[in-house]
Amino acid sequence: MRIFSGIQPTGEKHLGNYIGAIRQYVEGQDRADPAIYCIVDLHAITVAFDPEELRKRLYDTTAILLASGLDPERCVLFRQSDVHEHTELCWLLAGVCAHGDLNRMHQFKEKSERQRELVSAGLFFYPVLQAADVLAYRADEVPVGEDQRQHIELMREIARRFNERFGEVLVVPEHRIPATGAKVMDLQEPERKMSTTVGADSGRVYLLDEPDAIRSKFGSAVTDSGREILRAPDKAGISNMIGILAVATDRSEQEVEAEFAEAGYGDFKKAVAEAVVEYLRPVREAYPAIREDEKNLERILATGAGRAREMASQTLGDVRAAMGVGVPPSG
Ligand code: TYM
Repeated sequence: MRIFSGIQPTGEKHLGNYIGAIRQYVEGQDRADPAIYCIVDLHAITVAFDPEELRKRLYDTTAILLASGLDPERCVLFRQSDVHEHTELCWLLAGVCAHGDLNRMHQFKEKSERQRELVSAGLFFYPVLQAADVLAYRADEVPVGEDQRQHIELMREIARRFNERFGEVLVVPEHRIPATGAKVMDLQEPERKMSTTVGADSGRVYLLDEPDAIRSKFGSAVTDSGREILRAPDKAGISNMIGILAVATDRSEQEVEAEFAEAGYGDFKKAVAEAVVEYLRPVREAYPAIREDEKNLERILATGAGRAREMASQTLGDVRAAMGVGVPPSG
């Protein structure tokens, strides 16, 4: 069974990324053969960016993943732009991807509304490249957060269309969205997901935040005028923190609700903050030494790219042959 997932090298990674996706990557290493994780620098250039920052962020994200427990001996970790098969497959798949489907992508609508200067064609095409990322490896499973559900549906549709038209070449992948923590919400505006690009810094917890910063963010987290610590549609802030505490302490949300049945909001928020401080401690402590050694990071990414290229080039050979593109296959 193959697992594939991708993560953007933009901004600093936050608790939503960790709970929704990164913890699943770590766990996937023991189930998959292999687990393949890609830092998607080519996706990052679809919105305004600075070239020097991009390089730096790529190392930051690589170091975050390693500090979180990705082990280059047990997974394939690489940089998207090192494996040219992704961009070639993106173009080949464009032939079976409906323009109307791309037009319906929520993330395109949201991100294009936020662009101040240029809404790039790349932003519109983003989901096709994402489909190519996964389909190039014939991956079975894609661990992601809730916000990627529609992109995964689209890649399934692209794979199905391709196979109908050209024969059974691609694997139709399944998403793996966690039952708890698939959509961690902003602490200041809990009706909205925690995001790198939208909202104030105080609404998101960065993985590398110092304990006091974490405490102060949860301390000022928005709740509601009630008193009960229960999940409910009109209690977005409390519901969000129940989910966070459940994941951070490896319990169910019901168990958290039972424990805090008699508690007040203040004590509850303190407990969530302390749990998150501990939950992120290993990442925070391991990060600096890993990040400092850029030569080692490059070495890990290069080894990963070599292994990734081997897998992706096989798929590309089959796709090209099935589509009648390029030199005819021999034999
Ligand atoms: P990115 O870098 O924005 O996010 C990385 C992962 O974090 C999840 N996530 C969240 N989960 C829970 N709560 C949140 N508030 C939250 N915010 C983000 C995302 O769902 C994601 O799993 N398009 C992808 C990158 C990508 C990709 C791929 C993913 C490119 N190619 C192929 C899977 C397969 C993205 O923007 O990730």
